[in-house]
Amino acid sequence: MNGTLLQAEGIGMRFGGFQALSGVDFDVKENSVACIIGPNGAGKSTFLNIITGTLTPTAGTVRFAGQAIAGLAPHRIARLGIARKFQIPSVFPSMTVAENVEVALWGGRSPAGIDEMLEIIGLSRRRLDLAGDLAHGEKQWLEIGMAIATGPKLLLLDEPTAGMTPEETRATAELIHRLSNRCTVVAVEHDINFVRALDTDTLVLHQGQFFRRAPFVEIEADEAVRDVYLGRR
Ligand SMILES: Nc1ncnc2c1ncn2[C@@H]1O[C@H](COP(=O)(O)OP(=O)(O)O)[C@@H](O)[C@H]1O
Ligand SMILES: [Mg+2]
Repeated sequence: MNGTLLQAEGIGMRFGGFQALSGVDFDVKENSVACIIGPNGAGKSTFLNIITGTLTPTAGTVRFAGQAIAGLAPHRIARLGIARKFQIPSVFPSMTVAENVEVALWGGRSPAGIDEMLEIIGLSRRRLDLAGDLAHGEKQWLEIGMAIATGPKLLLLDEPTAGMTPEETRATAELIHRLSNRCTVVAVEHDINFVRALDTDTLVLHQGQFFRRAPFVEIEADEAVRDVYLGRR
């Protein structure tokens, strides 16, 4: 039985006079994959920023592995086992792919070796190439590998397939499912092709609240969701 890893209750986030999130409840179990969708400006990144401690919510609580974390400094939350991949790649371009992974493994607590990490991210054959020479999608996978190498319990991905080809997008969805036997993944995305390929527990963020949560096939078939999002992008 998997237990709840992260639980947010009644999250509100106000920026001056603007209420970006209100009454947001969210939970995710260990070793599962959840996807948060919603149009630009829905509050997806704001929600991730609250989990990582970049923002302190103006209301509500967040519990991670049983501990209250809302308002803790980002480095303290990271140390508890929450990793995040940003949209802009931050690999070391003049080092090889394997060296990048090695550096990430040093600081972390993952028992995995370099070979295993490269296998997971699908870059075994690129191990001796410079990270700076990788294609855009491959760089994103390397970054995911570097985040995983630190041994997190939870990995947060903000629009992981931005700028990727359809083929890279599909491969990224597969990669994320490979990760789910070692950590929980929460991805935020507005590219519906990625969400379809990920085909997982999906939450729809609408006007600062989650208004549906269901397997993606049900989300895609939901008239109300379609009216609000899928038809109007
Ligand atoms: N630091 C901030 N100050 C003021 N408004 C913000 C700030 N961050 C986000 N917002 C606003 O909150 C809303 C949600 O933004 P965001 O979470 O980035 O949406 P998404 O990631 O879903 O596109 C937007 O209207 C955005 O302009
Ligand atoms: Mg965003």
